[in-house]
Amino acid sequence: MPQYRSALTAIAHYVPDTVYDNQWFAERMDTNDEWITSRTGIKERRIMTDGATSDMILPAAREALENCGKTAADIDIIIVTTVTPDMMFPPTAAIVQRELGAKNAWGYDLSAACSGFLFGLNSARAFVESGVAKTVMVCGADKMSSILNYDDRTTSILFGDGAGVAIVERSEDENVGIIDAITHIDGSGEPYLHMKAGGSRKPASHETVDNKEHYVFQDGQAVFKKAVIGMAEVSAEVMERNNLTGDDVAWLVPHQANKRIIDATARRMGVTDDKVIVNIDRFGNTTSGTIPICLSELQKNGQLKYGDNVILAAFGAGFTWGAIYLKWAIK
Ligand code: COA
Repeated sequence: MPQYRSALTAIAHYVPDTVYDNQWFAERMDTNDEWITSRTGIKERRIMTDGATSDMILPAAREALENCGKTAADIDIIIVTTVTPDMMFPPTAAIVQRELGAKNAWGYDLSAACSGFLFGLNSARAFVESGVAKTVMVCGADKMSSILNYDDRTTSILFGDGAGVAIVERSEDENVGIIDAITHIDGSGEPYLHMKAGGSRKPASHETVDNKEHYVFQDGQAVFKKAVIGMAEVSAEVMERNNLTGDDVAWLVPHQANKRIIDATARRMGVTDDKVIVNIDRFGNTTSGTIPICLSELQKNGQLKYGDNVILAAFGAGFTWGAIYLKWAIK
């Protein structure tokens, strides 16, 4: 048994104002609204035209602190989950710490692609449950527009920019909070989804820039096949482990990569459509941002009730994937 139960005590998000809709893409490349909508479920994405990933995190972080009545000085650890840090180093977590004035915090960046927020939440859970930290800020954020090739119709249409921030603390009520988590990583996924250059294996050069190797590379079909199975299986597994049926689940909050992957996960779990959170139509795939943005919107709309059974599920580059079962702890 853990020493303490951990729980999300606040959630907030930020998405930029600029919208790239399907028409924006149709005017620039050989694609159309019908193809994008039917294959992905995406209609619009929000794009950060000025500023960095931390500039999306900061407004959400300030709002999350306000929501739970905390100040920056109360934060023990800041975890920023992202594949688009402000710079390779220092960690974006340090930039967030500086801008918030979180003088008592340490922190780090966590790179797990589309599973980033889920892995970050599981890490925060471990810190809080063990008593190592009382208050952890988990920031899931990506400025995907900074690593997209807007000449490539197979990848550029899929992603958008956005950030979500959760505060994780000890739960005052043992009956609510994060109950269980299953997380996986499998490096055999590398050939299918990666950025070819800019890392230590292939540092940036004129050649890598000319070859457009600083952008998202994806074998869409291969990723799709793995994601459909991976996200559905791990979600079903966390339900079985906790004796939950589809009827027991109040909300499925899945990573927003493709509406067809979301539908397959819900079917496997026996969860009806009305309980499945979908905002991919408005935001596209914001990588680490998807799950906290969904949770924040749900909370803002008053749809989450104290004690609700919520399943979070994700799949991403690596491959990385996992599911978290929590009972909603914000009144
Ligand atoms: N507009 C029009 N046609 C397009 C297109 C676009 N934006 N993108 C690709 N196509 C074309 C392809 O070139 C191909 O044409 P061809 O048959 O003449 O070769 C055709 O559409 C089918 O392409 P395919 O890749 O088989 O489509 P798909 O049904 O697999 O859908 C994805 C493509 C990317 C939407 C889908 O594979 C996917 O969502 N993959 C997983 C994405 C993901 O989860 N990524 C993040 C990890 S979490």
